[in-house]
Amino acid sequence: MSIPPATLAELKRSARAAATHAYAPYSRFRVGAAVLCDGAVYSGVNVENASYGLSICAERNAVFSAAARGARRIDAICVYTPTGLPVTPCGACLQVISEFASDIVIVCCSDDDAAEQRFTLRQLLPTAFRLEK
Ligand code: THU
Repeated sequence: MSIPPATLAELKRSARAAATHAYAPYSRFRVGAAVLCDGAVYSGVNVENASYGLSICAERNAVFSAAARGARRIDAICVYTPTGLPVTPCGACLQVISEFASDIVIVCCSDDDAAEQRFTLRQLLPTAFRLEK
């Protein structure tokens, strides 16, 4: 599915705006994510915990927020970090994204538009785990 540039721009704005609410007192690494589902945008941030292992990434929070509102198909995802270079979602997040997405575009952005990177889900996770059905 090809996403119009204006929609991707909105997704990026949403991920960036969300990052201001990241709760990252331990790593100080703020992340914002936004998923596009049937025209609606759902955002999420990383939320850390004093028990470090309980921290959760922005991408998974965005996906869970969408799912909690009934969304079941992700058409695109954007991850924003206020870093020089953008980051890609971690392996756990890619697996969670793949539950609700086919070969979607993953936009990885920062404050430097020239550094933006785009991948397909299959590029970053060619062999997602699936239960045999
Ligand atoms: N983090 C994300 O939210 N998304 C990523 O794609 C990579 C890492 C978070 C987890 C943790 O709160 C902080 O960034 C440092 O790893």
